[in-house]
Amino acid sequence: MSKIHAAITAVNGYVPEYVLTNKELESIVDTTDEWITTRTGIKERRILKGEGLGTSDLAVEAVNGLLKKRGIGAEEIELIIFCTTTPDMPFPATANILADKVGAKNAWGYDLQAACSGFIFGLATGAQFIESGKHKKVLVIGGDKMSSIVNYNDRTTCIIFGDGCGAVLLEPDAEGYGVMDSILKTDGSGMQFLHQKAGGSVRPASHETVDNHEHSVYQEGQTVFKFAVTKMADVAAEIMDRNGLVSEDVAWLVPHQANKRIIDATASRMGVGPEKVMINIQRYGNTTNGTIPLCLWEWESQLKKGDNIILAAFGGGFTWGSVYLKWAY
Ligand code: UT7
Repeated sequence: MSKIHAAITAVNGYVPEYVLTNKELESIVDTTDEWITTRTGIKERRILKGEGLGTSDLAVEAVNGLLKKRGIGAEEIELIIFCTTTPDMPFPATANILADKVGAKNAWGYDLQAACSGFIFGLATGAQFIESGKHKKVLVIGGDKMSSIVNYNDRTTCIIFGDGCGAVLLEPDAEGYGVMDSILKTDGSGMQFLHQKAGGSVRPASHETVDNHEHSVYQEGQTVFKFAVTKMADVAAEIMDRNGLVSEDVAWLVPHQANKRIIDATASRMGVGPEKVMINIQRYGNTTNGTIPLCLWEWESQLKKGDNIILAAFGGGFTWGSVYLKWAY
């Protein structure tokens, strides 16, 4: 019997309407369009406006569109893995809230926290439930409302992040398409360079933590940048090596969109030309768990059955990883 792989059989994405441009950021913090563009490649990002709206509301749009595309009902979903760093609330899981909102009455689910590498971790994890035969329809969602944890007085972090969400459906495939391999890594000693100081069990919310902006992203940008450039490129090269892939075999690189310079370094290390690299950072910025599925969604019409696709990400934790998949439709 041929091995069962977990194939992506549908993808969809959603970004909120409000466009926060570099020009508008110039009126909020001491920055310029020129600095942001040359240092990061970002021109604008989307922001979810509106009282009482959270990450699950981004996902509702992405998932409802995905189910429609695939022509299936929400009750057919068996498992929801919600990769996010900005859950609706500390508990219950956003996966539960989403399941209720879209009517996935027969699904169980959980949230997965691996910062910017979350979607890669979620895809590799979701694939296991398909490969083992446990489930036939698994939703993997990557989404964040980063504007909820960004300090718009901190010019080095607020310019990077945006809100957005993407979702993929995993189903069994016996013809050799789908997730072929994954490499996942963590190094908790990197925590000090990228984290959210308060709101967890170590430092619960207090007047002081709010006054000090400790519920926002804290990032030592240059250090994170150095690790990201090396680790993301290393892991992408490693997954190519161990699967016997050379650059000509790779149809697409789908990199996490944190900084255009990190993306370029990864592509160059893989020997992959810019025409094969999915980049939408200029329009959406860094949507954390959303970046990779949003790219797949936007490039879907250009993908061909059998395309070798390499996903790669690096994020807080530190976490990093790569997935090799063969596109299934
Ligand atoms: O998504 C997962 C993980 N995150 C990443 O991968 C992000 C990695 N880091 C980065 O992308 C970059 O480090 C940043 C985009 C965050 C910052 O760029 P940088 O080139 O590393 O800048 P820097 O922090 O070294 O700052 C250089 C200078 C400083 O001024 P001085 O000290 O040289 O006078 C900053 O104060 O640029 C200044 N600066 C700014 N100037 C204008 C920092 N932010 C801004 C800004 N506008 N927004």
